[in-house]
Amino acid sequence: MPRVIELAPSILSANFANLAAHAKQALEGGGTLLHVDIMDGHFVPNITIGPPVVASLRKALPDTIFDCHLMIENPDQFIPAFAEAGANWISVHQEACVHLDRTLHLIEDHGCKPAVVLNPATPVETLNDVLDLVHHVLVMSINPGFGGQNFIRYSLKKMEALARIREERGLDFRIEVDGGVNLTTVRDIVRAGAELLVAGSAVFEHGDAKDNARQLLDAARAATLARA
Ligand code: DX5
Ligand code: ZN
Repeated sequence: MPRVIELAPSILSANFANLAAHAKQALEGGGTLLHVDIMDGHFVPNITIGPPVVASLRKALPDTIFDCHLMIENPDQFIPAFAEAGANWISVHQEACVHLDRTLHLIEDHGCKPAVVLNPATPVETLNDVLDLVHHVLVMSINPGFGGQNFIRYSLKKMEALARIREERGLDFRIEVDGGVNLTTVRDIVRAGAELLVAGSAVFEHGDAKDNARQLLDAARAATLARA
């Protein structure tokens, strides 16, 4: 399957008073999905948004893919509500799921693409038995909870390992990266094998979200060409 690089602007760093409009700017710059961070103040030390905000965004952006990253305890309890609100992809943390197989099937049963997330300290091998169930694996390259943190370099090894396993086993899950993705880090990230690039502060924090998204995507695509 040809490798398609996509940018997922993370609304965590967007202007929440003007959320849909700010998100739209990043999509106009080439973002093809919107990364929506859900935090509960328990699994991570921060709180963000719940299903009502996702439902409002869905009305404003009817055709955009919503990539909902659940950083919450007991995700099974909330998956139906996020699916109902308009999520397309739902990712859950391996560390938060005692019954990961059940949770991934629950996501699928609600019409969404199931995905699993690894914290920086969680080994790739913990996913060996579920890799054929997931639409993508999200590699955290920061400790989740906040935007604007520094990229953790050893996460590159995990992207490389996932790309290798995918190749060896003939699987087709995609590899997503989240945390510290910016113009400085994106080249190594793409070369390590990630193709779905989440970026919050690099897109929304300063300047024009459309220009920032465009530049980041251009840099990512250039890195793919350099790799070939
Ligand atoms: C943090 C979130 C990220 C966050 C990344 O836990 O999962 O999606 O927005 O922010 P940046 O791109 O600023 O590192
Ligand atoms: Zn995220």
